[in-house]
Amino acid sequence: MMSKLFFTGNETEFEYFISSKNYNKIILLVDANTNGFCLPILKKLLHLFSNTHSIIIPQGESNKRLDVVEMIWQQLFQLIANRNTLLVCVGGGMVCDMGAFAASTFKRGIDVIHIPTTLLAMVDACYGGKTGLDFNGIKNSIGTFYQANAIYMNPIFLNTLNERMTASGFAEMIKHALISSVTHWEEIQQFTYTDFINIDAICVSLLIKKKIVDADVNDTSIRQQLNFGHSLGHAIESASLNTSNPLLHGEAIMLGMELELAISQQILQLSKNTSIEFAFLKQKLFPHLKHSYTWHDIKGYLQHDKKNQDSYQMSLLQEIGKCEVGVSVSEAIIKAVLASYDYSI
Ligand SMILES: NC(=O)c1ccc[n+]([C@@H]2O[C@H](COP(=O)([O-])OP(=O)(O)OC[C@H]3O[C@@H](n4cnc5c(N)ncnc54)[C@H](O)[C@@H]3O)[C@@H](O)[C@H]2O)c1
Repeated sequence: MMSKLFFTGNETEFEYFISSKNYNKIILLVDANTNGFCLPILKKLLHLFSNTHSIIIPQGESNKRLDVVEMIWQQLFQLIANRNTLLVCVGGGMVCDMGAFAASTFKRGIDVIHIPTTLLAMVDACYGGKTGLDFNGIKNSIGTFYQANAIYMNPIFLNTLNERMTASGFAEMIKHALISSVTHWEEIQQFTYTDFINIDAICVSLLIKKKIVDADVNDTSIRQQLNFGHSLGHAIESASLNTSNPLLHGEAIMLGMELELAISQQILQLSKNTSIEFAFLKQKLFPHLKHSYTWHDIKGYLQHDKKNQDSYQMSLLQEIGKCEVGVSVSEAIIKAVLASYDYSI
């Protein structure tokens, strides 16, 4: 079952969809920020939620942990949730990923709906059924596949998101452009800040992901195209989480994509022009984002992508709109590319 999508203006249909399921109880899951910023708006938009109980979890990636999931399970028990209860995740990718994980495991699975409130969650994290949490310091290392019953998309929530958090979402939109088509890549290079948060642009980006996911829900083949930039991006993000200045998911993915474009150039003969265009876009949208992670910093976090003794498996670009999955990349190439970006030398 794939998630049903509802957009701004479809509130009546969305409420009808929920009511028709005859849930015995609806519970909202929010983090500290979405509780303050988004819940009041949501309760005005959707009267169905006006008297709904909320579970509030602490915000931020550092709380995407098993003990916080336990807290959600505890509260579900206290609220006497059963298999006929609906959990509605109102938040960014962290709330959606962890909420859906809690829902997928509570009494062997209860229904879940996502109301994404960050750009990143709208164009990416809300769709596709990957749930999870960070464990042993490794991003998303525990998780399940569990599709949300529905997703309600309303960019009104983006009004309270700060610029850095908003820009983090640009990264996945840029990735979707790179793996989908030259036309979209050319278009996105011209985007201003406000173009990115336009509902049409959000829909285009989400639909690129949807098309790929729907063709390979279990992530055994083409869905891995969505991992472009993520092998090194996730390793960099994990390494940064242990510092006093952690990167946001999208920021780490921008760095990962830049490195993986350089690797694509070496292994798949991707045109150098793409790296140049990417560097220009990164400078425009993320002027302060710099590479500062060495092989030593990230190697421990790359285990997940390890193919054998000294090679790793990545999704790389052959050309714009053509992403090859499962490409073998030697440790030597990764080290060389990282060293070429190491400004600390
Ligand atoms: N499941 C997937 O397919 C998938 C895909 C991409 C990313 N992810 C995951 O998503 C997470 C990153 O998502 P994110 O960037 O949304 O992070 P996030 O959920 O941590 O949100 C970022 C910050 O914004 C705050 N926030 C959320 N909505 C707000 C609003 N409307 N106004 C003000 N503040 C608000 C949050 O409280 C948090 O502090 C990562 O854990 C990543 O692994 C999952």
